[in-house]
Amino acid sequence: MAEYVVEFGKDGRPVEPDGRLDAPAFHRNHQAIRAVLQRFLAGRAGNVVEVGSGTGQHAVDFARHLPDITWWPSDLNEQHLKSINAWRAYSQLPNIRPPLRIDLSDPSWCPEMREASGPGDLLAAFCANVIHIAPWRVAEGLVAGAGRYLRPGGLLLLYGPFKRGGKHTAESNEAFDASLRKGNPEWGVRDIEAVEELAAPAGLSLAEIAEMPANNLTLVFECVRAD
Ligand SMILES: C[S@@+](CC[C@H](N)C(=O)[O-])C[C@H]1O[C@@H](n2cnc3c(N)ncnc32)[C@H](O)[C@@H]1O
Repeated sequence: MAEYVVEFGKDGRPVEPDGRLDAPAFHRNHQAIRAVLQRFLAGRAGNVVEVGSGTGQHAVDFARHLPDITWWPSDLNEQHLKSINAWRAYSQLPNIRPPLRIDLSDPSWCPEMREASGPGDLLAAFCANVIHIAPWRVAEGLVAGAGRYLRPGGLLLLYGPFKRGGKHTAESNEAFDASLRKGNPEWGVRDIEAVEELAAPAGLSLAEIAEMPANNLTLVFECVRAD
């Protein structure tokens, strides 16, 4: 069954003295996710915001393999923000910025995004394993912000489990969905079509659905807004 984490570091796993947390799922899925990001972003330069970065391990891995990208990780959990910062310092990579505190319930994400101090003209936004472990308003905020901050032609890459046409793609996802909803009725594996419907008014069009290991998908939305 899929593993999900709301707060890393609460499971008794050792935490490095500098605050670096470790997510077991990272070790299983980072190469496949990185391959998708490389397909869309390799050789391109610009700002990419990662929302719900968790430990920060993905951010460091992507920044290392996509050196022309300036990577802006973010989260809303204080321990996660500390861990992201610690991974960033540990990596010594020049193209990863200090984490932003982005709560996706806010459609404008955070003050830095609205002001000159944050990344502008986003080449892409990346979000992994967030919208099914959060209320629907988080998906609404994600899409609203992406529509607002992505440059025309910019991409929203959304990784996780999804339903297709209202149906689960695997029994394990169905069981995962049930366990999520039991814990919180506002959570749950989302329908691709529902996300697509949400994205359209924000100027985001579903360009590709990439099949991923363990019955996950990456939805790739393109900003079709004409500035
Ligand atoms: C399952 S973890 C995924 C972490 C990471 N993206 C990964 O795939 O390893 C979900 C993350 O979403 C964050 N999160 C939950 N609600 C959020 C919200 N409203 N806005 C932004 N991040 C949120 C959590 O703090 C956590 O770091």
